Order: sequence, then C-alpha cells, then structure tokens
Amino acid sequence: MSIAPLNLDKQTEDVLPSAQLSLRNVTKVFSGKKDFFSKLLRKTSGDFVALEDISLDIQPNTFVSIIGPSGCGKSTLLNAIAGLSSVTEGEILLNGAPIRGPGSDRGMVFQNYALMPWMTVEENISFAVETVYPRLAVKERQRIVKEQIQLVGLVGAQKKHPHEISGGMRQRVGIARALAINPQILLMDEPFGALDALTRGFLQDEIERIWEQQRKTVIMITHSIEEALLLSDRIVMMTRGPAARVDEILDVPFPRPRNREMLDRYPGYHDLKAEMESHLSRETRAVEEARVRGR
Ligand SMILES: Nc1ncnc2c1ncn2[C@@H]1O[C@H](COP(=O)(O)OP(=O)(O)O)[C@@H](O)[C@H]1O
Ligand SMILES: [Mg+2]
Repeated sequence: MSIAPLNLDKQTEDVLPSAQLSLRNVTKVFSGKKDFFSKLLRKTSGDFVALEDISLDIQPNTFVSIIGPSGCGKSTLLNAIAGLSSVTEGEILLNGAPIRGPGSDRGMVFQNYALMPWMTVEENISFAVETVYPRLAVKERQRIVKEQIQLVGLVGAQKKHPHEISGGMRQRVGIARALAINPQILLMDEPFGALDALTRGFLQDEIERIWEQQRKTVIMITHSIEEALLLSDRIVMMTRGPAARVDEILDVPFPRPRNREMLDRYPGYHDLKAEMESHLSRETRAVEEARVRGR
C-alpha cells in the first residue's frame, strides 16, 4: 500500500502503470484580467501560476493527505482531480484515462458541507445517488441511503434538515453523500476545518473506522499535522505558492487500526511530526516575509 516516489523531473516514463491516479507535470495558471478597460488603462493584472509541474502517483487503497501553507494551491489541486477545474499543462490520469470533468468515480467532501438546505438528511444523500444513478430502482436507492446513514452514525437524524443538526452531523451527511455513490476515490478538502476540536476528533475516529472497513483511496487536504499522522499512509507536503510544487512525501508506517491515544507512542511519530512542523513553519514564514516585502 504505497504511492510511487515523487517524480519531479520532466520524465514521465517511470510513472508506475499500476497507479490509480497519476498527476503528470501538472501546471495550473489562472489568467489575469483581459477585459477592455484593463487593456485600455494598461492595467492588465498578470497571469497567476498557482501550481507548477506537479507529478504524483497514488496507488489504490491508500490514504493520502496533502498539507501546505494557506493559499499554496491545495484546493486548486483537489478541484483539478475532482474535474471541477481544468489544468493548464500536464494531465491527470485516473486508471490510465485523462480526467475531463467530474465523475461518479470520485466523491467530494467540502469543508462547508455544501448540503441542500431544503432537503432532509436522507433526501440530501438520496438526491446524490439519484443524480449519479438515475436508473437505479427506488428500493435499491433507499437501501443505499439507509446503509450510509448507519455507516456514518446518522440514525435518528434522517428526517432532520441541515439547520436542525450540528456541524459535525452535517459533515457526516457530507461524507455519507460522497460515499453513497460508491466512488473509487474519496476527495476531502479540509473536511473538519470548521468543527470544534472535540467534534473534529470524533469525526477523525469515524473516518479511521470507515477507512478500515472500506479501504477506499482517500485524498484529504488538512491543516492539522496530528490529523494527517493519525489517518494517512502518505503525506504530501506542498511548498508555498505561487508556482507551488510538491516538496516531499512522507511515509506513515504506523499499524492500523490506529488509536488517537496511542499516536505519540508509535515509533517515528515525533520525528515525522518535527519534520512536518519545520516544513510548515519554513514555508509559512517565507509567505509572511514575501507579504511584508510586498508592502
Ligand atoms: N479562480 C481563481 N482565480 C484566480 N486565482 C485563484 C483562483 N482560485 C484560486 N486562486 C489563487 O490560487 C492560489 C491557491 O489557492 P487555493 O488552491 O485555494 O489555496 P489553498 O487551498 O492551498 O489555501 C491562491 O493564491 C488563490 O488566490
Ligand atoms: Mg483550500
């Protein structure tokens, strides 16, 4: 259960054929303003290179976390994998085929839940299943919804609307909805970022439990070093932007199922944590220094 070593050079031949997801020399540029008035005033804001030459292979059934300073391009990368935005150069291959848009092979969990406020918990999940599998028999759809509600611990809240449940419960709906379409890969963009520490801990434990059951490939963006170390097989550390790259990939060899209480006793935990802390503080300090110079 591992991903191939980082391939930072331009060669792509050594990308393992067995990789489930392959990012090959991915660059993302957001183009600057080119409207009539900005041209007239010669105030064209330049293009912004968010990601530059990112190559990464992800093997099936691996839990991968992406960590990096705020604004470095983590969401940009995940959105490209989700097919919600295109890449400027390079390509992203899923089972060898280029990603051209969103698909039922990838399920997305958003930080702000992105639930339909007028729908109940079960309607939110059911709607996703119906959208992706419109020909599925109603009974089968109901079975899937029930199964997901049980899986994420939402029994009793099926008929409630998002505003009637806590943030933690809402994110359970977000996770159930993403899993209900039975994706090959679960994508999560800071899924616990808006939750208090206690709820966050509960949901991390739930994700660990669900991952033990399903062993789906997961790509999760997080700001939390402990969260990454608790859940991941591999941690991808990104450099600051602009032109963010993958700096280093860490292996997390701790045995599973993992236990939060035991985490700091696993051999190597403190070294991994120190390495991540030094990476994040170095990159964040550089962002701050650039900001001060720019003033
Ligand atoms: N649609 C967009 N147009 C222009 N710039 C964008 C757009 N989306 C993101 N960016 C810029 O790309 C950089 C990376 O953003 P993002 O991927 O959201 O960072 P992160 O998720 O790591 O905090 C930021 O500087 C952001 O301002
Ligand atoms: Mg983000």
